[in-house]
Amino acid sequence: MTFRVGVLASGTGSNFVALVEAQRRGELGSAEVAVLVCNRPEAPVLERARGMGVEAVLVDHRQYGSREGFDRALVDCLRERGVELVVLAGFMRILTPVFLSAFSQIINVHPALLPAFPGTDGIGDAMAYGAKVTGVTVHLVDSGVDTGPIILQEAVEIVAGESRDSLAVRIHGLEHRLLPRAVALAAQGRLRVEGRHVRILDSEERA
Ligand code: GRF
Repeated sequence: MTFRVGVLASGTGSNFVALVEAQRRGELGSAEVAVLVCNRPEAPVLERARGMGVEAVLVDHRQYGSREGFDRALVDCLRERGVELVVLAGFMRILTPVFLSAFSQIINVHPALLPAFPGTDGIGDAMAYGAKVTGVTVHLVDSGVDTGPIILQEAVEIVAGESRDSLAVRIHGLEHRLLPRAVALAAQGRLRVEGRHVRILDSEERA
């Protein structure tokens, strides 16, 4: 049986591409990227999804009078396609309880070591702060901004004097490894949430 994944993205879509490529290499187990939903008509991710043969749906937030109305449209779109797991891959909208209560697991990828540097520019904020180490966090989404329980996290060194672009290349490379791994674990039922802690179960232990 396949485990249907819906990806929400607003921009370039490199994480979306990494997920689909991981699926095609057989690394996502039973998880299948069923649909890409994007809120910006000009976002490159829409064409990238279509180019890879994945259904791409535009749900433009500007067409809705409220955040809740937009969220309801997203929920309907994903439910109609039988989505069980939602992945936020560079989705730049804050979701309301209308969306958060509709899915039992929502995963986000963030380009910093949370709880340091949450928000829209994790890479730039870590550099500007003078951090020597930053990284990538894949976490479950709760009602805060980048505050949910952490699934996977890995560090990246910030080399003295390096450019933002050079750091971003390493961060994105790591995202492209960690996000598919987290999705595969979720699809295998191997994430057990205990308060703030996400325990990764051995394959034999899973529920
Ligand atoms: C990634 O850095 C992700 O961590 C953040 O938004 C960026 C999206 O990049 N949430 P892309 O669109 O997947 O290339």
